[in-house]
Amino acid sequence: MGPLSPIRTLRFWGPRSLGVALGIFMTIGFALQLWGGQFQRRLPGLQLRQPWAPSPRPAVSSCPPRQRLVFLKTHKSGSSSVLNLLHRYGDRHGLRFALPARYQFGYPRLFQASWVRGFRPRGGGPQLPFHILCHHMRFNLKEVLQVMPSDSFFFSIVRDPAALARSAFSYYKSTSSAFRKSPSLAAFLANPRAFYRPGARGDHYARNLLWFDFGLPFPPEVKAKRRSLYLPRDPHSTQFRVLPSGAGPRAQTLDPSAVFHPASAVPVGHGQTSSPASLDLGSSPLIQWGLAWLDSIFDLVLVAEYFDESLVLLADALCWGLDDVVGFMHNAQAGGEQGLSTVSNRGLTAEDWQLTARARAWNNLDWALYVHFNRSLWARIEQYGQGRLESAVAELRARREARAKHCLVGGEALDPKFVTDRRFRPFQFGSAKVLGYVLRSGLSPQDQEECERLATPELQYKDKLDAKQFPPTVSSPLQTSRPLSP
Ligand SMILES: *[C@@H]1O[C@H](CO)[C@@H](O)[C@H](O)[C@H]1NC(C)=O
Repeated sequence: MGPLSPIRTLRFWGPRSLGVALGIFMTIGFALQLWGGQFQRRLPGLQLRQPWAPSPRPAVSSCPPRQRLVFLKTHKSGSSSVLNLLHRYGDRHGLRFALPARYQFGYPRLFQASWVRGFRPRGGGPQLPFHILCHHMRFNLKEVLQVMPSDSFFFSIVRDPAALARSAFSYYKSTSSAFRKSPSLAAFLANPRAFYRPGARGDHYARNLLWFDFGLPFPPEVKAKRRSLYLPRDPHSTQFRVLPSGAGPRAQTLDPSAVFHPASAVPVGHGQTSSPASLDLGSSPLIQWGLAWLDSIFDLVLVAEYFDESLVLLADALCWGLDDVVGFMHNAQAGGEQGLSTVSNRGLTAEDWQLTARARAWNNLDWALYVHFNRSLWARIEQYGQGRLESAVAELRARREARAKHCLVGGEALDPKFVTDRRFRPFQFGSAKVLGYVLRSGLSPQDQEECERLATPELQYKDKLDAKQFPPTVSSPLQTSRPLSP
């Protein structure tokens, strides 16, 4: 008898040979997995290191890690967790942050370079370079480019406006006059016009907050009322046309005036608060222009609902190690945001659905923004490879889990009443509690340092970086931190 020939296998295709064939397939599958794993380990930009191995820099790397970063920290979208990654990375590598005097860059006003600590205008003496610009601002490209080189890596994060509205309502209940007057988010969204006045205090928190944070102009109705606050006096020079000369390729990628025709920009969705028609915005010139403009500036926009997938793509784009994007969730509110990256619609009641639909319609510009960047993210996932991404996400989660177990009491975020150490107590704001972390005792000095970095909330971390860059003379920033309007 000769060896098994294909013809023989076909002829004897019975239960026994089926078992043999299955065995062969499984062996091949296993070999492929092994090979796949090897392959993954060799992929540039994504060095899979052992958890808890000392990790100063990927050992083998075919691309230099990017260390000039602009992160637009949008509100209520998971951005505090990204900030922690940036704080840690910059801290470990001795990078210089472009820091605000307090915790934000004059928000909600448009960003000004002069608000950066240690910034010198051109011709005002030698300027030490900045590496990372990442604290809250309303984006203003012209001024950002005074501080950061135009070939910096620009990125940001967006979130489904319905989830964002729930979070913002609870967080800014007393900051936004529209929210303050509303008994509930459902009541607000059922008739937003009864509560919302453009130009009223904190109104930007109550509608299209992402669009606002990206520094985009609003349709005429709102623009007219906001002019005094946000737009330059000269109506013929919006901030987008005033790109600095010598701003580099980033400024030349798109000439806004060639695309943006204010005369044809129609009021979008305003006055039609919750009709499904207001969701159909693809053809609005204002929105098309806004999205094209953002595409020309931002290298990557993360999506909160696919947070871990986004982090893997970020590590890949920056040529960072996977460990560099392993972190804990920060600034999560009790009873709401633990499931930031869950996209399941299970268990949604009819009221939930209605609220979601109304929130998306009311935040029409943000919805267009979100759908657009969700689409871009998935196109990138496609390019990266779905299977490759899934295994990297699984690895990321396993490492996060391992770190949480290693560093944290309870292995997870806790009610702030348990967080007695001031260094880790998150700033409490809004109507829900903001969760924090308690470190386990008995960690080795090296682990202690890493766990502290992982658990340090954004305000304390900013103070720490500030003290590092500008060694304090007298003041103790933590004691002077008072409630601010985030
Ligand atoms: C985001 O993209 C994914 C993948 O294409 C899709 O399943 C999901 O429905 C999208 N979400 C929205 C809100 O468009």
